[in-house]
Amino acid sequence: MNTDLLRSLRFIRRYRLVAAGAVMAVLVGSAAELAAPMLLRDIIDNGIGGKDSALIMRGALLLIAVAILGGIASFLQGYLSARASHGAAFEMRDAIFERLQTLSFSYHDRTQTGQLITRVTSDVDQVRDFVGGGLVQAIAAAILLVGAVVLLLTMNWQLALVALLAIPGTIFVLVRFVGGLGPMFRGFQQRLAALNSVLQENVAGVRVVKAFAREPFEASRYRSANESLLEQGLKVRRVVANAFPLLFSVGNAGVALVMWVGAVQLAHGKLTVGELVAFTSYLFLLLQPLFIIGFGAQTIARAGASAQRLFEVLDAETDVPEKPDAIELVAGPGRVEFRDVHLRYPGAAEETLSGISFTVEPGTAVALVGSTGSGKTSIVNLVPRFYDVASGAVFVDGYDVRDVTLGSLRSRIGIVMQDSVLFSGTVGENIAYGKPDASADEVRAAASAAQAHEFIERLADGYETRVGERGVKLSGGQRQRIAIARALLIDPGILIMDDSTSSVDAETEAALRGRLDALMRGRTTFVIAQRLSTVKRADIILLIDDGALVARGTHDELLATSCLYAEIAASQLVGGDQIEGPGTCDLEEE
Ligand SMILES: Nc1ncnc2c1ncn2[C@@H]1O[C@H](COP(=O)(O)OP(=O)(O)OP(=O)(O)O)[C@@H](O)[C@H]1O
Ligand SMILES: [Mg+2]
Repeated sequence: MNTDLLRSLRFIRRYRLVAAGAVMAVLVGSAAELAAPMLLRDIIDNGIGGKDSALIMRGALLLIAVAILGGIASFLQGYLSARASHGAAFEMRDAIFERLQTLSFSYHDRTQTGQLITRVTSDVDQVRDFVGGGLVQAIAAAILLVGAVVLLLTMNWQLALVALLAIPGTIFVLVRFVGGLGPMFRGFQQRLAALNSVLQENVAGVRVVKAFAREPFEASRYRSANESLLEQGLKVRRVVANAFPLLFSVGNAGVALVMWVGAVQLAHGKLTVGELVAFTSYLFLLLQPLFIIGFGAQTIARAGASAQRLFEVLDAETDVPEKPDAIELVAGPGRVEFRDVHLRYPGAAEETLSGISFTVEPGTAVALVGSTGSGKTSIVNLVPRFYDVASGAVFVDGYDVRDVTLGSLRSRIGIVMQDSVLFSGTVGENIAYGKPDASADEVRAAASAAQAHEFIERLADGYETRVGERGVKLSGGQRQRIAIARALLIDPGILIMDDSTSSVDAETEAALRGRLDALMRGRTTFVIAQRLSTVKRADIILLIDDGALVARGTHDELLATSCLYAEIAASQLVGGDQIEGPGTCDLEEE
């Protein structure tokens, strides 16, 4: 049994009494099973043989009672072990989900959704089957085994010792078997996760698949993942199928050995025929638990592989750990400072940001301008500490963001991301996502500030309209405006808008601008905008090129001094086509 499997037992801690009850039920059931033949022998030998009808009657009633007891026990075993195992599965799912919520952006960058979903579903089920079935049976079998050994030793210790020779052999086969099966089951779960990843990607991206008429390609991608899973499944079955005859052979070899030694003892008059027959029939008492453990072994191997996968998630360390003595960031003026910030994404060969330094005074608006991939999103992601800097530091109101709690930091920052993710639920719920106890009036105020109120009112159910998964029932611009309202509702001291008005039409943008001006007042604002009009009105513009801060100033200042700015303004910003650079540049890189 691997250590992860032992660790997974902590999930049944709360259900240990229920699990103990299930073990008791298995024992009572086995006892009932064992008692029946003895009662029957008594009825046949003494009742029928001795023509004692009272004894037959009593024996028959006892048999019925034993049968009822066995029935109750097996019902209780099923019920109690299901309760314990489903309870444990509940705890496991909860623990993993909680862990996933604490893991950092970069963990989710490198982990496939299908992988995680498989772990929360299938792997949890495998461990659950072990806790409910395999474990309860294995404990009961171990108790039966000890009982059987004691019983056999008291009957005939010489023969018992011979019989016990079968145990090391069986254990040897079992250990080899479980050891070999573990990696195979791990491979099976990995392939299942790969299959689920293809499925998840396809369901999420079904519109793109259809748009490019790639259904046959996706179908074959799924089929080959499916075939690989089938292949592994059959491989596991083959190993299991091969192991059982071996297990039974070892057991039967034990019986044969006992018969042989018993026959020799018989020949020497040390044993009667009746005793030998009785002994061998009780020998099965010994083999039965061994076989139970054997059957349970694959559940154990399978659960072991899955437990390992569960603990890979549960043990994953976040890349942005909170310090044990992290302090709560209290509401402050909202000064943001970058001091020689370098950023390297995990696994990336080169630095994405190299030596960025700037200070944004409270209440000012800063626009980040730069060509695509230059590092604008990467910069703003450092303020809420979605990633950690490689060197240098980011300060909010004088505190290094690594010294404060993530919750207190992030609750002060309203962020509208480059792609607006909405959750299935109503429009109102989505706007109130960061402040679930917001009143209807607050939601309305945020929505009208974001120029979303009007179109929301026109929806069939207004704020109660359900938007479907990822907000699919709304247009891109509508989604964006809801995302803006969501960021505004928490009344953040620092507002970050990444390309937030790119999908909004010019007219709405103009209206939004007026409102945003009012909203940005008193807040430190970062805007990454595609429109010249937005950029122009920022207090300061930071020009980013290839991960470095190459120029800063107002629109007019930059236009007069930076050829790169002039070029970007002219070619990349909406409404910038009339721009001309400083007379001296031929609009090349500066
Ligand atoms: N999570 C990530 N992991 C690894 N590399 C990343 C990650 N996010 C961005 N990058 C890389 O960092 C560089 C800067 O990306 P970033 O998203 O900051 O650019 P951007 O200026 O916001 O571009 P755009 O205007 O297109 O949004 C790119 O080369 C990108 O490939
Ligand atoms: Mg970006």
